[in-house]
Amino acid sequence: MINQSLIFARAYEKEAGGKIPAASRPAFHLTPWTGWMNDPNGFSWYRGQYHLFYQYYPYDTHWASMHWGHAVSHDLLHWTYLPAAMAPDQPYDAFGCFSGSAVELEDGRQLLMYTGVRKEGGDKGREVQTQCLAVGDGLDYVKFEGNPVLDASVLPKGLSPYDFRDPKIWRTEDGGFRCVVGAKDANRLGRLLMFRSEDGFSWHFESELARNDGRFGLMWECPDFFPLDGKQVVFVSPQDMLPKGFEYHNGNGTVCLIGTCDEETKRFIPEHDQAIDYGIDFYAPQTILTPDGRRVMIGWMQNWDTCQSTGGYEERPWFGQMSLPRELSIRNGRLYQRPVRELSLYRGKKVEYHDVRLSGETVLEGIEGRTVELDIRIRPEDAGNPYHKFSLLFAQDEQYRSVLSFRPYECLLKIDRKFSGSRRAFIHQRRCQVADHGGEIRLHVILDRFSVEVFINDGEQVMTATILTAPGARGISFAADGRLIMDVTKYSLFSEE
Ligand code: FRU
Repeated sequence: MINQSLIFARAYEKEAGGKIPAASRPAFHLTPWTGWMNDPNGFSWYRGQYHLFYQYYPYDTHWASMHWGHAVSHDLLHWTYLPAAMAPDQPYDAFGCFSGSAVELEDGRQLLMYTGVRKEGGDKGREVQTQCLAVGDGLDYVKFEGNPVLDASVLPKGLSPYDFRDPKIWRTEDGGFRCVVGAKDANRLGRLLMFRSEDGFSWHFESELARNDGRFGLMWECPDFFPLDGKQVVFVSPQDMLPKGFEYHNGNGTVCLIGTCDEETKRFIPEHDQAIDYGIDFYAPQTILTPDGRRVMIGWMQNWDTCQSTGGYEERPWFGQMSLPRELSIRNGRLYQRPVRELSLYRGKKVEYHDVRLSGETVLEGIEGRTVELDIRIRPEDAGNPYHKFSLLFAQDEQYRSVLSFRPYECLLKIDRKFSGSRRAFIHQRRCQVADHGGEIRLHVILDRFSVEVFINDGEQVMTATILTAPGARGISFAADGRLIMDVTKYSLFSEE
């Protein structure tokens, strides 16, 4: 049943992936078993564990014909690789098995819905994109003989068959299925189309859920649509965005729309928009509802424009990481995120300082390391005369450092990875406008070997960036321009001392 190219990929990844030492990967962020990874796919809870598939090219560390890699976890942090789930081996997906999602069928099997891509009129032709299915048991999947189940024939007039991708599928309360898929109109603007199905196999057009009115880039990729705290939420990853103030600086970036859905027309009515992540590296997130009722999101911790980040100087057998899974909520009309609570199970040694009066650069005994959680609270020493700048330096030694700095007068938090080991002239800095609390700020910082994720003011905003810094650069220090007071709690994560 399983096709030759998948058998080949499975043998290859086992051999090549097995040679990669665990210490050369992040401690708790998922990387491809071997080769290249982009978007999370098929994020799901199935038969007692979390499944995460991913866009995958096992044979090299660049994007090429897309397979689906596969990993499972009990805690969203320790992942076990399973054999690749799909390879591009059918006429309708010969150019790649692009992004998609997963649900459990009534009979207990798992259904994968993905975008099959083929070239029209030979290798030089355009990529025709259709939605396809595969059914499996959590390990092996068989592509549906009726594929594709959604093609150009269902597209409203004027929408492009070349940009029709990334189905996100879910079960409805009446036992049926819905999915939302990204599409593109004649003005090159994204649309989100919703389809319905009674059995998961036969699909019909339901509505245009949302459309890009020109404010958010061009094509809309990797949509998600879910209820959260009494609201409806649309996540989308627009291509080619223009920045708006301090929002949407990533080119291909992420947008969260919070609003309601008109029950009659099945159209989404947005009330609020914001970036999902304000850092450099975050794209194409997917969410699930966990068995205990949490809405958890995971994203590709990378930016398409910085994929050549190693510049060929670093020999890495893998490229691409997933973000930390994050719990979502809505507060004051905004999206809030926090690391999944499972992370606290892997806290090691705790070091705590209260009321540290900072001036100049300071090192605090016991605070260092590369897999570390820091909870930092800053306030001005004199409320009437706030400090000018606070900096956290990490992944630091004589040669390297990355810096998170906060300027209370402008309410700007900046991440700077210029000295993180990069030999390329791509984006190394990003600034984020944060709420004004008179110079007070809380920064919850999660460091893994090749990344930093900063949850700002209880998760009101998040900034994510990858770093390349060699693991020996373990220093952490604090600096103040002006007078401020800091509380800091540090935990080693995953038994790092
Ligand atoms: C987003 C994306 C998707 C597509 C996939 C291909 O990063 O471009 O739209 O399905 O990557 O790998």
